[in-house]
Amino acid sequence: MKTQVAIIGAGPSGLLLGQLLHKSGIDNIILERQSGDYVLGRIRAGILEQVTVDLLHEAGVGAGVDAGGTVHHSIELVFGGARHPIDVHGLTGGKVVTAYGQTELTRDLMQARAAQGLTTVYEASDVALHDFDGSRPRVTYQKDGQTHTLECEFIAGCDGFHGVSRASVKDKVTEYEKVYPFGWLGVLADVPPVSPHAIVYGNSERGFSLCSMRSLTRSRYYVQCPLTDKVEQWSDARFWDELRARLDPELAERVVTGPSIEKSIAPLRSFVAEPMRFGRLFLAGDAAHIVPPTGAKGLNLAASDVKYLSSAFIEHFNERSAAGIDTYSARCLRRIWRAERFSWWLTTLMHRFPDAESFGQKVQEAELDYLVNSRAMSTALSENYVGLPL
Ligand code: APR
Ligand code: PHB
Repeated sequence: MKTQVAIIGAGPSGLLLGQLLHKSGIDNIILERQSGDYVLGRIRAGILEQVTVDLLHEAGVGAGVDAGGTVHHSIELVFGGARHPIDVHGLTGGKVVTAYGQTELTRDLMQARAAQGLTTVYEASDVALHDFDGSRPRVTYQKDGQTHTLECEFIAGCDGFHGVSRASVKDKVTEYEKVYPFGWLGVLADVPPVSPHAIVYGNSERGFSLCSMRSLTRSRYYVQCPLTDKVEQWSDARFWDELRARLDPELAERVVTGPSIEKSIAPLRSFVAEPMRFGRLFLAGDAAHIVPPTGAKGLNLAASDVKYLSSAFIEHFNERSAAGIDTYSARCLRRIWRAERFSWWLTTLMHRFPDAESFGQKVQEAELDYLVNSRAMSTALSENYVGLPL
């Protein structure tokens, strides 16, 4: 087999890249280790910046988010037993974010790809990358007991944190990492969201909490928990009690409970691998960086990498210019580090750290107080929340 761009991984990064390249007449094949159903079974954050929504439209897959997304003009911070709305829309000159699940977005992209008859090889095992330092890269993989070879001009490593792409350049990358001393227990339930117009981020003595949504009938909630906790220790009843105990009395009263349809514990991590280009291999999305979910930047950063990468390939193939390719890594990393800073800051501000000394705790409380009472600080939060410019 032969293609112009071999894409490793059919998560949001790989699928969106494939769609944008196809729109510009660039041939691509995606190799994915898992089945399509497995990919759709992963539940992740679902807050889209406007630049991400615009990119979905550019890729011709904006209909789903237009029909099923919920626009949020504000967020709410809950601390000290009280609610503090932040008018994100007003403070950013009219910008908003849209709640739309990563599962739904991935399904839209998968359906568009299938409708266009583009090739995605699911359940491709032992994917290996070859000769990306030279001019004729190849990707080999196993499928149905046979070894296959895909010849290409470029390889896009969109295979997430545990993928083969970054592992293939292990000795050439510098990694920056921070691991947080707690996890998030997340619950998905078919109940109306407690706050349908604003995502709620809470910091209480019992720890962090988050009230989010997938639709007007499906809610997504999280509570901070010790990394040693197991999902089995958290019955639905215990989860709902804990969530309510971390909210202010008015919101707690409004929480509608119901059986969970998904429940999982995720660790929190900040991670960046530099650079993101190695000859004809390019890393994009979670393959190159991870943010803690506070602020929901992961999917949006994946989308901005893909925007830069698709532009670089389009410039190469259609305009015979190497400018985009040569500047890809630096352009991505500038935006990534700003989002890393924001996600780390919001995580630090909103969680209870098991090892915090009393001075640190008091400073956190003072910062929250300053944040909600200072227009400058609220604006800084808002402009990061809606997404920095591409
Ligand atoms: N070969 C082929 N495919 C692989 C391999 C491999 N060796 N390793 C991993 N993959 C696949 C995974 O099965 C997965 O479907 O690559 C895909 C990577 O998808 P994601 O992990 O979703 O990463 P990405 O597409 O970059 O999406 C980023 O995911 O974690 C969130 O917050 C993050 O929302 C952001 C998004
Ligand atoms: C989610 O809806 O899953 C979500 C929302 C906001 C976040 C993280 C996750 O910051």
